[in-house]
Amino acid sequence: MPVDAERIPLLRGRDMDSLEIVENAWLRVVNGVFAGWGSMDSFPATDGSEEIVDACGGAVMPSFCDSHTHIVYAGSREREFVDKIHGLSYEEIARRGGGILNSADLLRITSENELFRQAMERADEIMAKGTGCVEIKSGYGLSVDAELKMLRVIARIAESTPMKVKSTFLGAHAVGREYAGRQSEYVEMLCREMIPAVAAEGLAEFVDVFCDEGFFTPEETAMILDVASRHGMLPKIHANELAVSGGVQVGVAHGAVSVDHLERIGAEEIAILGKSDTVATILPGASFFLGMSYGQARGLMSENAIVALASDYNPGSSPSGDMRMVMSFGCIKLKMTPEESFNAVTINGAAAMGLGHDYGSIAEGKVANFFITRRLPSFEFIPYAYTTPIIKSIYLEGRLVK
Ligand code: NIG
Ligand code: FE
Repeated sequence: MPVDAERIPLLRGRDMDSLEIVENAWLRVVNGVFAGWGSMDSFPATDGSEEIVDACGGAVMPSFCDSHTHIVYAGSREREFVDKIHGLSYEEIARRGGGILNSADLLRITSENELFRQAMERADEIMAKGTGCVEIKSGYGLSVDAELKMLRVIARIAESTPMKVKSTFLGAHAVGREYAGRQSEYVEMLCREMIPAVAAEGLAEFVDVFCDEGFFTPEETAMILDVASRHGMLPKIHANELAVSGGVQVGVAHGAVSVDHLERIGAEEIAILGKSDTVATILPGASFFLGMSYGQARGLMSENAIVALASDYNPGSSPSGDMRMVMSFGCIKLKMTPEESFNAVTINGAAAMGLGHDYGSIAEGKVANFFITRRLPSFEFIPYAYTTPIIKSIYLEGRLVK
């Protein structure tokens, strides 16, 4: 069982390679919160009122914290998947009016209840795979009404799932079809109408912008982040997926909680992130699915950055929310050690959602989100045998959910 002695909220750079494991351990949960642990040699006396669960030689692991998803969408986009097999790139599909705009067309004609039903299936799917905290973005509405519909669905998921949910407004994911060729007018409308409407209903804690070539510029991003921050939303942005976009710079300058993707960064961006408190979130599932480069976890960690990994679960670039697989990609493709990769999908993922103080590790006082595995040969087996099922039971806020 990996434990965190001091309720640490995040791990930077070289510290990410540490993981304290207690063998043959007991763990106590009181009122949904971790309340102590130790070796079975010192198993505390109980008065019989506490339920005792035998882990049967399995490991007790903190739940995954997936800090970047788009699980509220309608339908799926496997036709584009086939287009990509035939040689079209993600950018070409977007330029032809497909991609995000396809999802927006379908979302607009899908009822809120149906959207909730589809998204809740994905929420249940990731919970069963070990995720305990998840960030969910809007961004397939691209009109005031449709963005609000998405954000209300996210709020309903938050009420309906035992996972901890954080909500992000991503109106600047693409330019809505009715504004085609009028990007600056769309950005103005987003600042004047969408952000105040979202804030008035208290529907988003974070604001996101797809700051990348062919999408939104650093200047537009700065404007949106300024307006959103006046409405109390903290930035968490998409940057440097398709090009060295200037997104890292604008995100860090605005005190972003995280900058995400980072497939294309150089020494300048790495140095900036190493000196900042902005979490550098890499999304290797998108690199895998789109055949892109994998980002530079090692370079970021050697410059002392806070590195997280997330799934980016979405219909276009990463139709999977499997954080175990993400952890394996961390090891196989980003050359992170199993410890670094595990910390990136747990405690640093929590930090990338502003949840590091209360989630992401087994520490006294943190919320008791964990799963129990079957008996494993080693900790390293988890990312190594990347499709072998390991989870036997899942507890969120101390309650058995599966
Ligand atoms: O994070 N990059 C921008 N947004 C998503 C993809 C959205 C889509 O293609 O539907 C991402 O990869
Ligand atoms: Fe994304």
